[in-house]
Amino acid sequence: MVNNRESHKKEQYYKQAKKEGFRARSAYKLFDIQKRFNIFKRAFYILDIGCAPGSWLQVVKKYTEENLVKYNDQYYHRDHYKIMGIDIEKTSPIENVNIIKADITKPEIQTKINSFFQGKLDLVLSDASIKKTGNKFTDHLRQITLCYKILELARNNLKFKGNLVIKAFQGSDFNKFYKEVNPIFRILKSYKPMSSKKKSNEIFLIGLQKRN
Ligand SMILES: C[S@@+](CC[C@H](N)C(=O)[O-])C[C@H]1O[C@@H](n2cnc3c(N)ncnc32)[C@H](O)[C@@H]1O
Repeated sequence: MVNNRESHKKEQYYKQAKKEGFRARSAYKLFDIQKRFNIFKRAFYILDIGCAPGSWLQVVKKYTEENLVKYNDQYYHRDHYKIMGIDIEKTSPIENVNIIKADITKPEIQTKINSFFQGKLDLVLSDASIKKTGNKFTDHLRQITLCYKILELARNNLKFKGNLVIKAFQGSDFNKFYKEVNPIFRILKSYKPMSSKKKSNEIFLIGLQKRN
């Protein structure tokens, strides 16, 4: 019964993604996160880590384009956007999006991020996921190791009051990671989007308003 419901849900999001032109059903996780936390508010410079096949990038582009019009006022705004997507795998091009095929854990990537965003990143997104082996414990630990690397990158590149979304897997070291992220942001929440499979142990950490 649960399995039926789960596969129905999976199928439902898959069909919706196809109909609405998104490259993957993961797009709806990001829509869920936005609905709940408004992470795209006044976001113009955005980095998406683990971006292939590119559905989050499609969502990012939609919001940044809207923001150019929506926030064209005397407060923080820009007249252009900058989006960078990084993945080990190939991501098909998206107009006006800088896509890089690279491993985020390699130090060389820092220079590329620096020269593109110049320390003005509003939002870092990471849906990056290690290749699962099926062993929940080791997969959890490997994913958390990846999360620490991404956190370091976000800490070094996000601007003051910037936001972070990062995917982790629940397990023994999750709380430790949460505690590491906590002091960096004014608000920190863990969240499992509606569109995320129930049986999956993925969980997103949402860090809002980076401290100085
Ligand atoms: C769940 S998929 C992302 C889906 C994407 N958010 C979308 O909506 O299309 C996870 C991605 O993380 C990428 N990934 C895993 N480890 C990575 C790393 N060290 N550097 C860059 N990308 C990585 C994988 O190649 C994979 O494409």
